[in-house]
Amino acid sequence: MRVTVIGTGYVGTVTGACLACLGHRVTCVDTDQAKIEKLRAGESPIYEPGLEELIALAHTSGGIDFQTDLSDPVRESDVIFIAVGTPPLPSGESNLSYLEAAARGIGRSMDSTKFRVVVNKSTVPVGTGNLVQALVREGIAESGAAGEVAFGVASNPEFLREGSAIHDSLYPDRIVLGAEEAPTLELMRALYQPLATQSFEAPVFAPRPASMPPVAVVSTTLTSAEMIKYSANAFLTVKIGFANEIANICERVGADVTEVMLGIGLDTRIGSKFLNAGLGWGGSCFGKDVSSLLHTAGEYGYKAHLLEASLTVNNNQRQVIVQRLQERLGILKGRTIALLGLAFKPNTDDLRDAPSLLIADKLIRMGARIKAFDPVAMDACRIHHASLNIQYCPDALSAVDKADAVVLVTEWPEFGDLDLAQVAAKMAQPVLIDGRNLFNPERARAAGFAYEGIGRPRRRQSGAGR
Ligand SMILES: NC(=O)c1ccc[n+]([C@@H]2O[C@H](COP(=O)([O-])OP(=O)(O)OC[C@H]3O[C@@H](n4cnc5c(N)ncnc54)[C@H](O)[C@@H]3O)[C@@H](O)[C@H]2O)c1
Repeated sequence: MRVTVIGTGYVGTVTGACLACLGHRVTCVDTDQAKIEKLRAGESPIYEPGLEELIALAHTSGGIDFQTDLSDPVRESDVIFIAVGTPPLPSGESNLSYLEAAARGIGRSMDSTKFRVVVNKSTVPVGTGNLVQALVREGIAESGAAGEVAFGVASNPEFLREGSAIHDSLYPDRIVLGAEEAPTLELMRALYQPLATQSFEAPVFAPRPASMPPVAVVSTTLTSAEMIKYSANAFLTVKIGFANEIANICERVGADVTEVMLGIGLDTRIGSKFLNAGLGWGGSCFGKDVSSLLHTAGEYGYKAHLLEASLTVNNNQRQVIVQRLQERLGILKGRTIALLGLAFKPNTDDLRDAPSLLIADKLIRMGARIKAFDPVAMDACRIHHASLNIQYCPDALSAVDKADAVVLVTEWPEFGDLDLAQVAAKMAQPVLIDGRNLFNPERARAAGFAYEGIGRPRRRQSGAGR
């Protein structure tokens, strides 16, 4: 099929390249000229492992090109994806201005030569499918296109995780398709048939998992598909929030949350994923999506207590790091704090709603000096958060040099391989606040550190077994 993907961010670029690898002919469109030029040169505008290889493969499979103007691609396409950003407004609502501009632009470019499907890939509030339908119609009316312009609107929410986006897109747990009319759903099912049946040739750099089953396709209404995306993210935040709440109780009673979560996660009704206590989740999606769902619930007069609590628990969790530093160091003014990791999670350079930013900002306001090292996110931090007075360091050891405390913020695997005795020896005071429970407390203490994890016994326990 001919496919247009509007928006070449984390979702749009990966979606476009994956669809080309399934055999479709794809054009990716973005208003950001610099991004399009990079993509034309075969470079990824974002840090995402394997993406450049995938784009190269897309050229030789279905074919892919990159443009700033959507008119011709939309006219030629059977399926047009909207994958633009939907960032949060201060009220918690989603900012739909990018999506609205894209939908109108699609309408203006359509003609009566074929039936097309406009797909919401962006995460959008419940009811946005109807809004897109209206905006596309308005665009068609503005253009004065002759004859009957036939189109359907579908919702196809995205569940990829930054850092493993290609694997998640080629080998998903499910494909969710929402639409109101059969022809729209049929076209979407046909588009995804090679993915659903896993009949495409797996790229060598992203091999198919050994026991990969056919992918479940959930066909439903527009509204339910929109709710599925929000509910999935809300559930994940509640799950992490639960682990953090239990962590805070564990600390008080002297239990270890990592062992408690292991013990409950083996229950198949619960499952072991997303039970890692730490300094809280971040990223471009969780906070914005939960806030947007809360806003929708509020519009209908419903107070979603559990969702509110999940945001509260997460915000409190980020403060725990500062409290720990105060407890260990007393005065923070004039102290040097090293941050290991800035990205909101490993394998990405994304800093949107990253806990590191709030922690750094708070510590700087309290008079501390901040040194930091992140394997990939330092450039993004320098550019997008220039007002944060951070001393960026070329490696972890330079960051901890003469520091009064080190905070493990992002669990990049390479930090787990650090020689802790060497790290401790470089510091002015060997204080380690492990915001992700990455390190073994006994080993950290044996290396000379005053170690603090999250939800772990605060001091070396006396007594049997420990
Ligand atoms: N990033 C994720 O992990 C993730 C996962 C699932 C869903 N989502 C959702 O997918 C959507 C996109 O997220 P993202 O992280 O890829 O965003 P992003 O900010 O990385 O990319 C959005 C892109 O859209 C472009 N754009 C904006 N208006 C445009 C227009 N009118 N025409 C063409 N291009 C336009 C921007 O220039 C930008 O390149 C959001 O709704 C997000 O919530 C994101």
